[in-house]
Amino acid sequence: MQLQQTLSGLVSSIASHQLNDLAGIEREKVLIVDDSPVVRRSLTKALGDAYQFTEASTVLEAFELLRSTEFSLVITDIIMPGLSGIELLRKVIEVYPRTSVIVVSGVDRPQRALDAVRLGAFDYLIKPFDNEVLALTVTRALEHRSLLINAKQYKADLEARNEELIRGKQQLQRLQAQIVQNEKMASIGQLAAGIAHELNNPVGFLYGNLDLLSACVSDLTRVVRFYEHVELPADVAQAASSFKEQIGYERTVSDLDSIIADCREGAERVRDIVQNLRTFSRLDEAELKRTDIHEGIESTLRILSRYFSGGAIELVRDFGELPTIEAYSAKLNQVWMNLLVNAAQAVGSNQGSVTISTRSMGDKVYVAVSDTGSGIDPAVAGRIFDPFFTTKPVGEGTGLGLSISFGIIEDHGGTIKVQSKQGVGTTFTVELLQRLPQKNDANSDSHTQLEVQHAFSL
Ligand SMILES: Nc1ncnc2c1ncn2[C@@H]1O[C@H](COP(=O)(O)OP(=O)(O)OP(=O)(O)O)[C@@H](O)[C@H]1O
Ligand SMILES: [Mg+2]
Repeated sequence: MQLQQTLSGLVSSIASHQLNDLAGIEREKVLIVDDSPVVRRSLTKALGDAYQFTEASTVLEAFELLRSTEFSLVITDIIMPGLSGIELLRKVIEVYPRTSVIVVSGVDRPQRALDAVRLGAFDYLIKPFDNEVLALTVTRALEHRSLLINAKQYKADLEARNEELIRGKQQLQRLQAQIVQNEKMASIGQLAAGIAHELNNPVGFLYGNLDLLSACVSDLTRVVRFYEHVELPADVAQAASSFKEQIGYERTVSDLDSIIADCREGAERVRDIVQNLRTFSRLDEAELKRTDIHEGIESTLRILSRYFSGGAIELVRDFGELPTIEAYSAKLNQVWMNLLVNAAQAVGSNQGSVTISTRSMGDKVYVAVSDTGSGIDPAVAGRIFDPFFTTKPVGEGTGLGLSISFGIIEDHGGTIKVQSKQGVGTTFTVELLQRLPQKNDANSDSHTQLEVQHAFSL
């Protein structure tokens, strides 16, 4: 009879294993921790074959097992030799948050039960317990665990999707800003090109005729000087001398050369400005070519002379040796312009300096624009590259400069970083490559950061 029962138990156990295996359901792993083998056995027996059991007789043994296996559930006694079940509970809560714990004890003390549940146990059972209550508690603990895991996964998925949406939105905003700025620059470019074209001819006359004028004046001066030595009747000499006095003859003759030299210098400057406007207005130039960064910076500085030639801002060129780089040069000029205008505006009407440092290292070149201006408020630092973000009054800033610069640098496979301290100043550092990477191996991770860059020293 007994043999028959044992056999039928064995058969049903094998059948249930096979059913689970056939259904491809992995049985949940349950760790039973109790110093009494009798209790451990009675627990596994009471819970049947639906679970995969592992037993430990001490908490240290349980720690060891937890390190190598992920258990869905730990059922632990409280009072055991060595560490107690409460210590095991603490460790599981802290290190294995995906594992549930049911505490089992022979001591019926409500306070202890409450403490265990407060610490994070799913439930507390008092020995001896009803097998059905145990089975139900275990089922509920496992259901609760899988709900928690699903909820966490769901939350993580939502967060990831949210981040993706935020990135997409930023990208769209940047594109929108780029379109706006491109149009703005295109119309400025057209205007500049128009002015340059109109000025070009008159400046040509001025400049070209100055040499002729200078030659004519020196010939005329020679003729006048010749007449000075001619004997004139006394009344004519008298009239000539008072006429000379009236017009400041001596000063006029001696100043003529320097007046003409000043005119020539002025005409040269106008000619340079026209040349600059022409270079600058080639914004639609989509040609990728070897670009001399220093030349671009100098041409931008000439356009920005109203900021830097007043004397209030000291402009320091700390230029190193730079190779030419492959770039869209007119677009890079836009970056230098935005950074230099921001720097000048940050210094404002206070006395201060703007330093442009350039260096090359390996296949990279670095351009840093530093100012001793107001610095950036850490509260807004994370937004300065956002399109339309500005702290400047209406009319002074549209908040597009940095976002456009970011886009241009990204198109060149480079990075832009900023370091700032309020009241001390700001440094923007642009890193560019000597050769433009192919579109799909461009550094797509390039991103802006507000942190000190230690990789190089300028
Ligand atoms: N060198 C700097 N020092 C201090 N703050 C700066 C500096 N550069 C940028 N910022 C801050 O970043 C903001 C965004 O700069 P960005 O160049 O994008 O726009 P803007 O200068 O305000 O306007 P726009 O460039 O379109 O005329 C500025 O309003 C300013 O608050
Ligand atoms: Mg700006």
